[in-house]
Amino acid sequence: MTEVKVICASNELIAGNEPLKKFVDQQKGAHCSVLVNETQYVVVKVAKEADIEKVRATAGNIARDLASQKVEKAVVLEGTLETAFEHLTKETVYTAFAEGWDLGSYQFLTYKSKEESFQTTLEVEGKDVQSAVELGKIRAAATAFSRDLMNEVSDVLNPETYPDVLKKQYADTGIEVTVYRKKEIEEMGMNGVLTVCRGSKYSPSFVEMKYVGDTSKPLVALVGKGVTFDTGGISLKSGKDLSDMRMDMGGSAAVAGAMQLLAKTEAKVNVVALIPMVENTPDNTSVFPGEVITYKNGTTVQVGNTDAEGRLILADALIRAGELNAEYIVDIATLTGAVVNALGTEIGGVFGDEEQAFILKKVGDENGDFVWPMPLVEAYDKSLASDYADMNNISSLSYGGSITAALFLRRFVPKDSKWLHVDMAGMMSKSSNSGYYAKSATGYGARLLADYAVKISE
Ligand code: BES
Ligand code: ZN
Ligand code: ZN
Repeated sequence: MTEVKVICASNELIAGNEPLKKFVDQQKGAHCSVLVNETQYVVVKVAKEADIEKVRATAGNIARDLASQKVEKAVVLEGTLETAFEHLTKETVYTAFAEGWDLGSYQFLTYKSKEESFQTTLEVEGKDVQSAVELGKIRAAATAFSRDLMNEVSDVLNPETYPDVLKKQYADTGIEVTVYRKKEIEEMGMNGVLTVCRGSKYSPSFVEMKYVGDTSKPLVALVGKGVTFDTGGISLKSGKDLSDMRMDMGGSAAVAGAMQLLAKTEAKVNVVALIPMVENTPDNTSVFPGEVITYKNGTTVQVGNTDAEGRLILADALIRAGELNAEYIVDIATLTGAVVNALGTEIGGVFGDEEQAFILKKVGDENGDFVWPMPLVEAYDKSLASDYADMNNISSLSYGGSITAALFLRRFVPKDSKWLHVDMAGMMSKSSNSGYYAKSATGYGARLLADYAVKISE
């Protein structure tokens, strides 16, 4: 069995050996490997300026390095992490390290015929930190579930199969899953969902999931865009490789991961998840540009562009959140390319209630799902005007696309609720392995939504 020991650079083994100490100091990065008396050590450098995200990233990098060397086990010696990151809270550091470790080891190999999954097992010494480590594993597993959903291909995960995947996943948890199929969606008047999925070979679904850890807490609705593939529809997308548009259900994956995290940590919250599931594809039966959708609340919407489909299905879900009297509503979606132009690929955008947006930002700063508050510019609202319906699903402006998308959603937000909208298009996938991210789906949002629900239920 190949095994390495993880130690801190201030460990006597390194600090007491001048050449070794010099070698470690000279290495770039937050960790390095050394061989002493035929034992392999991973040395974590003392990082006085490191934040908690750095702990996750370091763990992810070590885990991936060791897995590529086919090291079977890594033992973190007692005292190592609290010394390396002495300015951070001990429990938080151990949770972050375990979380980063498992996420850094994440692989999606379902369709690789020759590769077998390999993960270096993490063993952490010290009785007092075991529950912190366990929490890190739970957080990683929930995020990995979101990644798995996003990475899956659209002929396997589609509006007809997706609800069953969720049912199976939550079979032994306190999460109650209700699935509405096409007929019920018709009865419920969810005309955005029906219209967007009209050209697909799959029927739409609408999934509601409840997790009640404490009935006395305010009802929080988590709404996730579940477009299992976005071709753009009749307003067809162009591009060399649209494969990543299978991840256009990333918002729903975030909600699904958050539910798992809340249930596994037995969080004292009262949460309902609302997930509209559709596929957006061209066909002779598809919605054509110019058609009008009449929503349950009476609002009529001109479908100016069938590629702005996310907002059309989220509108139904927001109306539903109102029917359920949700006090807080957070929707999350891979909604616009514009947010990628605005914020790039390291941070999502949050719109809506300003006070809540700053609470969410703080939550993300801590847990690694970074988010930045964005403005709902009133003056842009009129750009959603339609010549013949109450509104258009695209703005007449050539700028501010993520803002006008948020303004569109705002029109469907129930009165008396506190609403946030997270546009995670830029956070959908990573282009390389780095830190605790593996190339491809990120699992963004699972931790963000779960921790936010806990925060506002305190
Ligand atoms: N799913 C896309 C947004 C997207 C883009 C997600 C890139 C992830 C990466 C969304 O449905 C879309 O197509 N939005 C359009 C809206 C436009 C037609 C107003 C866009 O952003 O171009
Ligand atoms: Zn689209
Ligand atoms: Zn989309």
